[in-house]
Amino acid sequence: MKDFNIAVIPGDGIGKEVVSEAVRVLETAADLHGGLSFQFTEYPWNCDYYLEHGVMMPEDGLEQLQPHDAVFLGAVGDPNKVPDHISLWGLLINIRRSFEQVVNIRPAKHIKGVRSPLHDPKGFDFIVVRENSEGEYSESGGRIHQGDDEIAIQNAVFTKKGTRRAMDYAFKLAESRRHHVTSATKSNGIVHSMPFWDEVFKETAIDFPDIKTRKVHIDALSAFLVSQPETFDVIVASNLFGDILTDVGAAIMGSIGIAPSANINLNGKYPSMFEPVHGSAPDIVGKGIANPIGQIWTAKMMLDHFGENELGNHLLSSIENVLDSGIKTPDLGGKATTEEVTNAVINELKKL
Ligand code: NAI
Ligand code: MG
Repeated sequence: MKDFNIAVIPGDGIGKEVVSEAVRVLETAADLHGGLSFQFTEYPWNCDYYLEHGVMMPEDGLEQLQPHDAVFLGAVGDPNKVPDHISLWGLLINIRRSFEQVVNIRPAKHIKGVRSPLHDPKGFDFIVVRENSEGEYSESGGRIHQGDDEIAIQNAVFTKKGTRRAMDYAFKLAESRRHHVTSATKSNGIVHSMPFWDEVFKETAIDFPDIKTRKVHIDALSAFLVSQPETFDVIVASNLFGDILTDVGAAIMGSIGIAPSANINLNGKYPSMFEPVHGSAPDIVGKGIANPIGQIWTAKMMLDHFGENELGNHLLSSIENVLDSGIKTPDLGGKATTEEVTNAVINELKKL
């Protein structure tokens, strides 16, 4: 019996509505599998917790989370109660940084039954692996002088280790998919860090002779995600480029309510964290119409991370069958409630 210990942080707003639904799906998945079980421990850390205690999580919060096999998070933020920079930095970003979650991965896939803004999405199915710890988002730099003499310097920091581990992750991921990795570069304009990025990409490729590679400048790549997204399998990108590409990926999928993501720790010292792309959606909270698919797809990514890929793929097929059958929440043009969509996914899962 494989037993996984999961820290659950529903967070704020619709986070609370969709996390409990995804947990129901995971429980069904474990029952069907037989050799799998989950222990869920819920942590009530959110903006209400902040109003009561003056902090987003207790002082030993990270120590409480650390022994778990994964953190499963809904969404954090309730701008009417607590300013976003306090809630996000106090919980989400604190966990990502402290737990050395150095790559962020986000799949983008055309799902039958979900209208993509692309007129011919051609069944695109790619994953962006974003370096999540360094690159363009560094604190190195500063500002000097004032007025017309003012100077701002922002340094991008690329280490061999940081670059290599993101690329290794991308190539290994491609081995389990369509064996193709694209590198997002800009070595024609950024003359130090990007040629370095290209070199590390080339070096990494030598260790993965079965993987086809392609190198595309970020400007052209952004355009290709719109004009020919079906030509990509795994894309590896620096922090800034990955940030932009993943938003394009979510946009062409058709709704923020279905997009999943994972923040992966690679050194095994801390758990990884799984969370949907969307936020706490204060505009629809309490109406029972939040789309649970983003959170359920996020659960699929967690199953993959635990090595339960077959079950994960069953879950994704179940999601696709449900959406294709027209059982959808209002954000996708349907009339179903959060609970009805989840029940339909559970029923599909039982059929497979
Ligand atoms: P949001 O993602 O919460 O909502 C944007 C729009 O998408 C809203 O109209 C919302 O109703 C809709 N939407 C989002 N998820 C949906 C779902 N599952 N089903 C149906 N419709 C959905 O982004 P917004 O409004 O900018 O932020 C609200 C709060 O969430 C803020 O406090 C923000 O800081 C926080 N936030 C937290 C994130 C996280 O925890 N990772 C990510 C993004 C925002
Ligand atoms: Mg972004």
